[in-house]
Amino acid sequence: MKHLLALLASTVLTAIPPAQGIEGTAHDLSVTGLNSVTMATHSCVFCHATHNPAGSAKLIPDWNHTTTVAAFTMYNNTNHPGADLRGTVDSQPTGPSLACLSCHDGSVAVGSLLVAPISGGNDIYLSARGGVSPSTGRISSGPSLVGTDLSNDHPISITYQDNLDTGLQPAASLVGVRLYPENVTGAKVQCASCHDVHNYGIQGTTAPFLRVTMAGSFLCRTCHKK
Ligand code: HEC
Ligand code: HEC
Ligand code: HEC
Ligand code: HEC
Repeated sequence: MKHLLALLASTVLTAIPPAQGIEGTAHDLSVTGLNSVTMATHSCVFCHATHNPAGSAKLIPDWNHTTTVAAFTMYNNTNHPGADLRGTVDSQPTGPSLACLSCHDGSVAVGSLLVAPISGGNDIYLSARGGVSPSTGRISSGPSLVGTDLSNDHPISITYQDNLDTGLQPAASLVGVRLYPENVTGAKVQCASCHDVHNYGIQGTTAPFLRVTMAGSFLCRTCHKK
């Protein structure tokens, strides 16, 4: 039985990215978390409420964070030299991408919530680590500060047109990555297509929070034929 379980575990591990979960990762903002920046005793509340809070933009299920109102510069054929995109880029980030940017653009405190946790405070940043400012609670420096200029990052909030760009793998055949709302032609690539905020992953492969390993550029080749 023990052997069978070990065998099962190893088979599963090679098939799907290893799941470390959110506890103890950079996305664990609770009082016990790695990026302990608040007094909250659990970590889901920084992105989700138990029920869809009033005023929630519904960017993701039960979105509980203040949504950024910053103006973003998108990656498109006009402002990115040499770009030859066939997909349609939204004029501003949408859906789960806008959710990420509500912390990662640096304009909103990471603990700015629509519904505060029952356990208490969500706006104490004195023990903030990394690029989170202990005074403002915003991501203010370091590699996690994505900012508002997205013209040099991978295109996001763009439709996946495998029918117009023959360099893309067929949408329906994609495994591991996720288009929104689902893996069909014309669905969108968002930050969360490549990243799973809930699973940090393993250094050298799926970290940081990647859905598919970067070893051998496997993530890129999941969608791009070369
Ligand atoms: C840093 C922000 C963040 C935190 C913290 C977070 N989530 Fe999420 N969650 C997201 C985003 C973004 C999505 C939508 C994209 C996706 O499906 O990954 C999502 C989607 C989900 C979904 C829907 C999954 C699906 O397949 O559609 C569930 C369920 C969920 N989260 C549960 C949790 C739980 C439970 C916790 C706490 C342990 C948690 N989340 C913490 C950002 C977060
Ligand atoms: C509630 C705020 C919040 C939201 C929403 C959020 N993040 Fe983060 N994220 C953080 C914080 C805080 C850090 C750590 C910053 C630091 O240490 O400088 C972080 C770190 C990261 C890192 C780097 C981890 C590392 O160790 O290098 C990645 C990648 C990341 N986030 C991706 C995402 C993506 C993709 C989304 C949306 C699907 C998202 N995040 C949504 C707060 C958030
Ligand atoms: C096409 C896939 C893809 C998309 C889309 C994507 N990322 Fe990433 N992201 C990556 C990869 C791969 C890495 C790791 C890069 C490295 O280690 O050099 C990364 C790294 C990061 C980091 C860590 C920074 C660092 O240099 O260590 C953050 C934060 C992050 N992404 C946030 C985002 C946000 C926010 C979005 C949407 C605006 C986004 N990502 C969209 C693939 C993607
Ligand atoms: C979830 C699917 C997906 C993943 C994973 C992905 N891409 Fe893309 N990528 C796209 C789509 C869709 C486009 C837009 C293609 C179009 O519209 O012609 C694109 C566009 C690009 C472009 C811009 C091309 C241009 O004409 O300006 C570059 C460069 C690129 N990807 C590199 C990468 C790299 C490097 C990786 C791995 C880190 C990666 N991609 C991972 C889907 C993906």
